Amino acid sequence: MKADATATVSGHHKVSFDDRKVLVPWDEGKTSQFHHIWLRDHCQCKHCRHGETKQRLLDTFSIPRNIKPDDVVQGEEGLTIKWKDGHESSFSFKWLHLHSYSPRLEKYLSPQFKFWGAEIADELPEVDYEAVMESDKGVAIWVHKIYKYGFCLVNNVPPTPEATQSLIERIAFIRHTHYGGFWDFTADLAKKDLAYSDVFLGVHTDTTYFSDPAGLQMFHLLSHTDGSGGANTFVDGFRAAKLLREENPEAYKTLSSIRIPAHASGNEDSSIQPFSPFPVFNHHPVNGELMQIRWNNDDRGTMDRWSDMEDVEMFYDACRAWNDILTRKENVYRVQLKPGRPLIFDNWRVLHGREAFTGKRRMCGAYVNRDDWISRFKTLTTKRETVLNAL
Ligand SMILES: [Fe+2]
Ligand SMILES: [Zn+2]
Repeated sequence: MKADATATVSGHHKVSFDDRKVLVPWDEGKTSQFHHIWLRDHCQCKHCRHGETKQRLLDTFSIPRNIKPDDVVQGEEGLTIKWKDGHESSFSFKWLHLHSYSPRLEKYLSPQFKFWGAEIADELPEVDYEAVMESDKGVAIWVHKIYKYGFCLVNNVPPTPEATQSLIERIAFIRHTHYGGFWDFTADLAKKDLAYSDVFLGVHTDTTYFSDPAGLQMFHLLSHTDGSGGANTFVDGFRAAKLLREENPEAYKTLSSIRIPAHASGNEDSSIQPFSPFPVFNHHPVNGELMQIRWNNDDRGTMDRWSDMEDVEMFYDACRAWNDILTRKENVYRVQLKPGRPLIFDNWRVLHGREAFTGKRRMCGAYVNRDDWISRFKTLTTKRETVLNAL
């Protein structure tokens, strides 16, 4: 997450420019340098950027290689650059400070996650169906809880597929997969995946076999008759990863670097694999933040590419340490889902599993893409002006 400090321009030094760059001295003592060609390319005027779509209209390649301002005028809120061809570009100091690249001035705020273990059962993140269906304010509260905790329960939902589908569509459109869009199924192996069976499933993330794994998943148990069992289990994967890093840094490193092939090949007409194998822990390339966990031991393919012979045993040791954390009772939130109370979770963060059951269960639910639900979260919880300023 990007945040900005105060963008106050220096009271003692003036904005200046040379042959290649504009120099903006800040009150905090640092001076930003912006190349002329970069400033011209990022002009925000309505001829250079579409007022509504916010897309670039300017032909970048028509900018002369050695473009230089005629003048740079410093104002109260920002500066105006007068180019030799008569075009003018204005930039607010706020925007310049936020996007300063030499030096970089933005501060990264760690995401405000609330980590949890089994004790979350006493203080569950939950919202009411009515509130979510009624207003965007209700959706904002809902997605904020999903973001903060990695999951949320919804109370008083009509126990029907239709109501469940309308509920999830309050966040974004449903992601279709080889299993279809919105799913509504019993344990009959209609799709050749263990999810469609009654056996025990250890905690995992879904769709490790996609290049872009599903972002959110909702489960709604519509009915369970003539049997028992089938409690769901959830583990806060980001917290579990933190525990692993503290207890066994070597294992954390191994699971952040060794790439694991994955596949979905049960249906006769498909064999889905990501474009590249991915590690279990995937980090943001700039701020190093853990962004995504991919872990499904059942969907793991054959690992026949190792850069070092030592890695083989190191990998199994690391998986064992990780599995140990994932199965510790104090780390697992165990819940018997009930009709009328679906649970939605962040599949990039939270791992889920299910105990074996008997009898007949009818479950429904769906996936939502990660980028789509984060977009909804961002636009509902951040001012439009702030979102646009950060583009
Ligand atoms: Fe699953
Ligand atoms: Zn312009």
